[in-house]
This record gives sequence, structure tokens and C-alpha cells, in this order.
Amino acid sequence: MSTNSAVTTNNENIVWHQHSVDKGQRSEQKKQKPCVLWFTGLSGSGKSTVAGAVELALFELGAHTYLLDGDNVRMGLCKGLTFSDNDRKENIRRIGEVAKLMADAGLIVLTAFISPHREDREQVRKLLPQTEFIEVFVDTPLAICEQRDPKGLYKKARAGEIKNFTGIDSVYEKPESAEIRVENGEQPLSEAVNVIINYLRENGYV
Ligand code: ADX
Repeated sequence: MSTNSAVTTNNENIVWHQHSVDKGQRSEQKKQKPCVLWFTGLSGSGKSTVAGAVELALFELGAHTYLLDGDNVRMGLCKGLTFSDNDRKENIRRIGEVAKLMADAGLIVLTAFISPHREDREQVRKLLPQTEFIEVFVDTPLAICEQRDPKGLYKKARAGEIKNFTGIDSVYEKPESAEIRVENGEQPLSEAVNVIINYLRENGYV
């Protein structure tokens, strides 16, 4: 029998290493309370637009941020994942773990992913301390998203050229109790940004 334990990789042999600089110190240095603003909504709902505008507002306030965005992340960290239910789950799991690390670095993290499954979003919520996961539902009606169709993907989905397209032939489960709900249809962008910035101020994140 081999006794070379150095070559075995077993979870029970992995121990969390507590380094000397911790999350509290990193956050204190940045004068902010880290959190993950989890934007969810249909494709074309305006998640990236609102998240980007909120990040800019935070940046101008001197906050330390990072924005993880759907299409960008699928070009690297999540390259090769499809839009099947299982791959979307894995997409959200990876992003959740990365967002958690970034929050541990003391950052205010913004994520903009459809994240259509309630259960997957709840899994990410569970990764973080209770006050650090802030779900932001960008509640733009499908008809408006489809009318905008910024990438021409709804048209392709309707023509059957793209399968499993969210809202067309793949499910989107709306949040039931998101911390924040904004619209990016009727409501001006600046109003949605104000709602989110006010939430962060009132709750002491910035
Ligand atoms: S998620 O469902 O896994 O959370 P994610 O936010 O990463 O999705 O990617 C969504 C983006 O991928 C959309 O904005 C759209 O541009 C593109 N996309 C390509 N195919 C699909 C599809 N079948 N369903 C939804 N979005 C798609």
C-alpha cells in the first residue's frame, strides 16, 4: 500500500489557513462595510447598466468596488459553460465563490447575472454573512426587454436559432423577497441608482 500521503488530495486533509490580515482590517482600511449587490433579472432588463451606474456613483464617493458582469465572466472564469440548467447553476456557484472572496478582500461587489433560479441565488446568499448579500431585482417586463433586444438575441430565440433562452423557452424565477427592487423600464436610471445608493448609506455600507 502506498504511504505517500503527499499525493492524495482529500477534503479532510485541507485546513483553512487564517492569515494575519483579516476581512475586518481590510474593510476598516477602506472605510466601508463589504457586501455583494446581486443584480438579477432578464436579459436586456438593464442589470449591467444599473450595476455600472451604481459602481460609478460608489467610485465617485470613494468606495472600493468591483463589478462582475455576465458576458465578461463567461469569456474567462466561466468560459465553456452553456445555458443548460446545470451549467447556469455552475456559473452562479463560481461567481458566488468569487464574490465571497472579493467581499473578504473588503470590497463592495456588484454582480450582474440573469441567475434565473431562486435556489441558486439562495445558495450564494448562504455563502455570506446575513447582511452581506443584497439581492437587487431589476424588474423590467419581458415585453420591454424583448423590444429593446440590444444584442438581437430575443429575435434569434423567437426564430428558434437559440435554445434555452431565458423568458422564451427557459425559466426565470422572480425573487420573492429581494432587499431592493428597481425598474429599468419606466423609471429613469438615476432614480434606480439613488434607491440603491440610499439603501447602502442608510444601512452603513458606505
Ligand atoms: S445566467 O443565466 O447563467 O445567469 P448570464 O448572466 O451568465 O446567464 O449570461 C446571460 C447573457 O448571455 C445574456 O445577457 C445574453 O447576452 C447571453 N445569452 C446567450 N445565450 C443565452 C440564453 N440561452 N439565455 C440567456 N442569455 C443568453
